[in-house]
Amino acid sequence: MRTGEGIYHCIKVQQFSRDFLEEICDLADKIREIARTKAGTEYLSSTLNHKQAMLYFVQPSTRTFLSFYSACQILGIKCAEVRDPKTSSEVKGESEEDTVRTFSSYFDLIIMRHPQANFAEKIAGLLDRTERPVPVINAGSGKDQHPTQALLDVYTLRRSFHHRGGIDGKQIVFAGDLLRGRTVRSLAALLTRYQGVKQYFVAPPEFQIGQDILDFLDKQGVEYELTENFEAVIQGADAIYMTRLQDEWDSAENTRSVIDIERFSMRERHLQMLKADAVILHPLPRRLEIEVAIDSDPRAGYWRQVRNGMWARAALIAMTFCRKQNIYEYYLNNNL
Ligand code: CP
Repeated sequence: MRTGEGIYHCIKVQQFSRDFLEEICDLADKIREIARTKAGTEYLSSTLNHKQAMLYFVQPSTRTFLSFYSACQILGIKCAEVRDPKTSSEVKGESEEDTVRTFSSYFDLIIMRHPQANFAEKIAGLLDRTERPVPVINAGSGKDQHPTQALLDVYTLRRSFHHRGGIDGKQIVFAGDLLRGRTVRSLAALLTRYQGVKQYFVAPPEFQIGQDILDFLDKQGVEYELTENFEAVIQGADAIYMTRLQDEWDSAENTRSVIDIERFSMRERHLQMLKADAVILHPLPRRLEIEVAIDSDPRAGYWRQVRNGMWARAALIAMTFCRKQNIYEYYLNNNL
């Protein structure tokens, strides 16, 4: 993978270094500060207004699609979208590979969500062998990777722990369907870039985190625990990352009906057990695993997380096109 300001294709979290994470979070902060004024938004929207992006989302999405769309708008990038392959020439038998290669003829950036693990990686490799190797951003691939969600999660954690020494040394609890949740798999792997973070995985045995992630944590020397006891671990947690049952992946022998999600749900009564400065996160969408009454507690961070996604993705796109330096210059020249 080629690098501009540390990134070209964005495919999986393992490609992000600690330095890159700090850079992208710093840049996201700068972009959101610049965007506070009309002059700032006008400046930002001039930075990449010669570029065009294709949002190829053939799996459902609300936040990832819209936050990428908004991030492109912030930077002045014009967007087109394909969300239903039935509207493309795939119905005439064209392969997905040829479809995406066609996008690269018209667009300067391809942002894609796809049900197949490794599809984004395959496309990035394919485009690299063509005369128009435009950057590819993986916006969620199969049950495997959701690298930009992990970026926005790290950004949210960094902001949450700003006055508490940052992410290093924190205790992070993951709860829910950890086997099929690509957001947890990606964030668990990315947190290995921080020192002394202990991870707790709370799930029924059928949906416990995959052995490949545990092997990766072992290799990185990261401390972790697997448990079914939600109430025992949330009390010492600095962050609790809730997830829904990913039953779109259900198969005949592994169905939702056998799972008691109540044991892995955050209820109002749990709030008194949490540390005063804990943060509750969720990649969303949620179902019943976080009671709506919890939304008004200051520790509920998931709606902030949604908005952070837009800033983190704007920073990622700006770095993809090597605009970090220009944005910093504007920031400094305008005494922000
Ligand atoms: N967190 C997330 O990926 O949400 P969407 O599926 O709505 O994009």
